[in-house]
Amino acid sequence: MRMIDLIEKKRDGQELTKDEINFMVQGYTRGDIPDYQMSALAMAVFFQDMSSSESVHLTMAMVESGDQIDFSEIEGIKVDKHSTGGVGDTTTLILAPLVASVGVPVAKMSGRGLGHTGGTIDKLESIAGFEVEMDGTTFNQLVNKNKVAVVGQSGNLTPADKQLYGLRDVTATVDSIPLIASSIMSKKIASGADAIVLDVKTGSGAFMKDVEGAKKLAETMTQIGNGAGRNTIAVISDMNQPLGFAIGNGLEVKEAIDTLKGEGPEDLYELCLTLGSHMIYLAGQADSTKEARTQLEDAIKSGRAVEKWKTFIEAQGGDKSVVDDPSKLPAASHTFEVKAKEDGIISEIIADEIGIAASMLGAGRTTKDSRIDLAVGLVLNKKVGEKVKKGESLVTVHSNTKETSDVVEKIYESYSISPHDVESKPLIYDVIK
Ligand code: URA
Ligand code: CA
Repeated sequence: MRMIDLIEKKRDGQELTKDEINFMVQGYTRGDIPDYQMSALAMAVFFQDMSSSESVHLTMAMVESGDQIDFSEIEGIKVDKHSTGGVGDTTTLILAPLVASVGVPVAKMSGRGLGHTGGTIDKLESIAGFEVEMDGTTFNQLVNKNKVAVVGQSGNLTPADKQLYGLRDVTATVDSIPLIASSIMSKKIASGADAIVLDVKTGSGAFMKDVEGAKKLAETMTQIGNGAGRNTIAVISDMNQPLGFAIGNGLEVKEAIDTLKGEGPEDLYELCLTLGSHMIYLAGQADSTKEARTQLEDAIKSGRAVEKWKTFIEAQGGDKSVVDDPSKLPAASHTFEVKAKEDGIISEIIADEIGIAASMLGAGRTTKDSRIDLAVGLVLNKKVGEKVKKGESLVTVHSNTKETSDVVEKIYESYSISPHDVESKPLIYDVIK
């Protein structure tokens, strides 16, 4: 087999076989196939697309390129949740204890944030003492005992995806549905979940700017997951503005605490209940998502969700007293307000842009090894659809530096204020099975 023939075949719009895809992925991971041939192939896929069976084969070839996590020692059906990328997306912090509190095991491997998107592991580390590294046996025991544990990614998961993603990033081939779908799903499948709930974002702050594109991505991912024997569903949710109010590590932990007490932002609460209901349903713990939702609402109202959050923090060495006293979370040296320059109605808050503003304060990484500041970030005081008067606060900035004019400018760039009423967008557009 020769790579040049596969590039030509894909270029001309033909379907690659399982053997051809395996040859390509294995050769590329070993270093036998050079970057320039793989980029030509990625560009051919960008223009010619892939069939759903090609997408499944590509995903499985990437899964098999590295380690695969075995969760068979953990009792019950392990359901994982994945979001296609968000700013201020605090859902994992909330869903882990919430879903565990109704008895469904949450065995979560999470990453650190890179660039302007936050990582669950960084957020958890803003709780004093919280330990995110542990061996597999300890992890399994913790999940069996408490129904929840979260660890940082370790081992050699999907090296083929790591290489290919790096290549796509610099060859203008990220925005291809089969390539995004196989990249995400290979990581989910390799990390051992029995079932997967996907949160596919659509809007100005997402990969997929329109709902049609998001649906197509969701369909491709659910086909891959179900094809690989993992029960998979996708919720299409809105990313025309960040989720919740807080963006920044410690600030999002505070927001997660509020939400688990039933006192969080409405959109964040609603998305968590929607995703959580599907998780409970796929785990076989409820006969319908409606029944699952009632279980979750009860867990929040009764305080069981917040109790589980404390158990989870304590089991991983963290100071659980932050739950009752969030002032123990890292705090920035000063705060100030970014005020509206005109009257009107908020029509958009570009999530990427405001994420970059938080990152510029030190909440995100500029390189893989840079240190982040867990205390800094932004709290949105106005969201899309709200009226604002000139001089009212749009955003509260939590900062540890004096020079913040570029951050303020970025915040203004991300906010649009319209003189007219804006059409309200739904939070959830669709559910794809
Ligand atoms: N996230 C991923 O992991 N891969 C992609 O291709 C896009 C988003
Ligand atoms: Ca948030």
